[in-house]
Amino acid sequence: MKITVIGAGYVGLVTAVCLSELKNNVLCVERPSFDLTNLKNGISHFYEPGLNELLNKNIKADRISFTTDLDKAINFSDVIFICVGTPQSDSGKADLSQVENISRQIAKRLKSYKLIIEKSTVPVNTHQWVKKTIKRYAHTDLEFDVASNPEFLREGSAVFDFMNPDRIVIGVESEKAKQIFKELYSPFIKKDFPVLITTPAASELIKHAANSFLALKISYINMVSELCEKTDIDINMVADGIGYDKRIGRDFLNAGIGYGGSCFPKDIKAFIKIAEEHGTDFTLLKEVEKINNQKRKNYIKKVEKVLWINKNKNIAVWGLSFKPETDDIREAPSLDIVNELLKKGANLRLYDPQAAENFKLVFPESKNIQYFKDMYKTLENADALLILTEWAEFKTADLDKIKKLMKLPIIIDGRNIYKIRDMGEFEYYSIGRGKFSDSEILK
Ligand code: UGA
Repeated sequence: MKITVIGAGYVGLVTAVCLSELKNNVLCVERPSFDLTNLKNGISHFYEPGLNELLNKNIKADRISFTTDLDKAINFSDVIFICVGTPQSDSGKADLSQVENISRQIAKRLKSYKLIIEKSTVPVNTHQWVKKTIKRYAHTDLEFDVASNPEFLREGSAVFDFMNPDRIVIGVESEKAKQIFKELYSPFIKKDFPVLITTPAASELIKHAANSFLALKISYINMVSELCEKTDIDINMVADGIGYDKRIGRDFLNAGIGYGGSCFPKDIKAFIKIAEEHGTDFTLLKEVEKINNQKRKNYIKKVEKVLWINKNKNIAVWGLSFKPETDDIREAPSLDIVNELLKKGANLRLYDPQAAENFKLVFPESKNIQYFKDMYKTLENADALLILTEWAEFKTADLDKIKKLMKLPIIIDGRNIYKIRDMGEFEYYSIGRGKFSDSEILK
């Protein structure tokens, strides 16, 4: 099938590459100011495991190409995925100006039937605006469909998630659109997971409700972790204890310094706003947000409580990305934490396997900030080590080496990556785990 993907961001590029891997012929379009040289040479502009390999493979197979020519892209196929940004506006609402602009651009070029698919996360009933906009600007009665097909990819495992979905949600209004989706996802439909066919509105809402529920789980466990810390109980054991209940599930019950990223913070705000516009005060989600913001503050307080004075202390920081396996630092807890420590006059020694270059754009190297390519180098003469992201290489780090390199063996772990029983040689602080922590599971 020929497919146009508008936008080569996280969602657009992964969608385009994976659809080409499914043997479709994909043209991905970006704005004229976007330099496509790297993409055309098979190099993604962000780090995502497995993406470059598939991109190269499908460029060679002539199944994916890139352009900045919107005319060409819209004429290329009858199936258009809108994957443009839907950032947060000042009010917290989703800023849909890019979606509106693309709708107008499609309208102007409407010369045959098109199925226009919202893949970006949008508030409920956005499809109605897209339809209305296309009708207004098209000056033709040509038939077209607007559908919703939200993506549920996680950064860091986006390619795997696309190829192995838990479910596919499709919001359509016509039989014709439904048949196109059936053909498009036929390589998947044979596999063992549900494909939900619903209305565009329900499909739009499912996406916001899913992300909000996941964020709610995180804030819930983070709240329980506070109680655990005060009562010397291991939050991980509590998470296991409740997570084995199938109705609850163990995923997304890892306590820490809270969620970040380009999705949860913005989607929760947008969901609260759209609910408000429909007369629903979503107080539960407001609390989820509040708890999440508080987690970062609590962590900063913990650092202060442990080190007393931060000024002139050498503090090593491991992990800057909002989660492992990505170079994305958007809304990462590290941004707030580093900012606060700098204000207090600490000397920061930073390391991240992928995100350092992005972090440097916000916090350039200076007298107080040094970046290292080797995680152990950050520890030389360090008064403390802060762990802000649970990268696998931190979990398997050599504890003896850490101890030898540091001035003081103090670790303040924001992601609970070590077992308390292994940390006897350290002054080790983590989240929601008291001194009697580390229970065992006897199968
Ligand atoms: C999230 C959703 O998981 C995807 O399903 C969705 O498609 C995507 O948003 C989106 O809307 O595009 P993502 O933001 O990539 O994906 O990352 P997650 O793996 O969901 O993690 C989000 C944040 O929650 C991270 O900061 C992570 O550290 C934190 N988290 C996650 C916890 O603090 N505890 C947990 O137990 C799990």
